[in-house]
Amino acid sequence: MTTKLTALVAGSTGMLGSKIVSALLDKGNIDVRAMVRRLSPAQASIDDSNGENRKKIDAMKAKGAAIVEGNVMEPETLLPLCAGVDVVVSAIGNSEVTVPGQKNLIDAAKQQGVKRFIPSDYSVDYRKLDYGDNDNLDKRKEVFEYLQQSGLEYTLVLNGVFMEFITYMPLFDLEHQTFQYWGDGETPLDLTTTDDTAKYVAEAVSDPSLANMALEVAGDTLTSKQLKATYEGATGSKLTEKSLGSIAEMKAWITNKKTSASSLEEYVYHQYMYAMVSGKGKLDRIGNARYPHIKPMTVKQFLSKGDS
Ligand SMILES: NC(=O)c1ccc[n+]([C@@H]2O[C@H](COP(=O)([O-])OP(=O)(O)OC[C@H]3O[C@@H](n4cnc5c(N)ncnc54)[C@H](OP(=O)(O)O)[C@@H]3O)[C@@H](O)[C@H]2O)c1
Repeated sequence: MTTKLTALVAGSTGMLGSKIVSALLDKGNIDVRAMVRRLSPAQASIDDSNGENRKKIDAMKAKGAAIVEGNVMEPETLLPLCAGVDVVVSAIGNSEVTVPGQKNLIDAAKQQGVKRFIPSDYSVDYRKLDYGDNDNLDKRKEVFEYLQQSGLEYTLVLNGVFMEFITYMPLFDLEHQTFQYWGDGETPLDLTTTDDTAKYVAEAVSDPSLANMALEVAGDTLTSKQLKATYEGATGSKLTEKSLGSIAEMKAWITNKKTSASSLEEYVYHQYMYAMVSGKGKLDRIGNARYPHIKPMTVKQFLSKGDS
């Protein structure tokens, strides 16, 4: 007889979190608690995003998730939600709550005897980066260190970059039909769709052999130049190729930009690109083969769908 697991998903109304809830329910042997923030009816009527959340919450409920209210910045709300939970999955977005909120969630999980914690990573291998390489990934490093010190079991899910963001990557300047790259354009880059990432997260939740390990997955691994060729093949458009310089020059550009930037958005995507095209954040142990029933989408398949 197999015992049912209970998973708590924080960030369940998010882009990835809602897919994780769905993938966990698809497994059929997991009780899912979807954590949502409390909304007043007044809020729901004045804010469209809250209306969107309502739809997501209704869909999760209809599929079988238990909807539970909590706020990672209000620790007292987290303790009851973690009671009786086997695995906490965080899909909290990148914001000011990423570090303090997840630390609160780790504390509550620890106090309630939760077995395993999956932090909100879903990225390149930030463990190999240095502090300062990427402002957003620095937050993941800090949370991971806290998680290790907590003594809770953990599993990291690392998937490179979401395929949905391909054409938003600084490699593409579609307005000018240009493909631009750094270095020699031959460093392999890992890409995975959000749907596939969510499916792998669901496997990670149910796989105790992943305790204190990273599950590294990639729908596809292509160099910058292969990405250009795949884009052209799938869309029939021809892009002008432009070299933007060496990886060292890219790093210097980011450092310089950071001193004058008025917001993180002006350089953080380049920092993410740097982690990829330098090879520094490359996934070294891609473990798709652990779950052969998942056939992740390739870049060619993704771009051929035509909705990128
Ligand atoms: N590798 C990549 O290419 C890539 C790209 C994008 C994202 N990611 C990563 O994927 C993860 C999920 O990102 P996402 O884009 O799916 O996030 P998102 O859509 O912004 O969703 C964030 C979620 O966190 C919830 N949340 C925020 N503050 C909260 C609080 N105080 N208490 C409880 N819940 C709170 C939000 O709730 P509300 O709905 O109530 O606001 C929402 O459910 C992040 O780690 C992100 O960095 C990776």
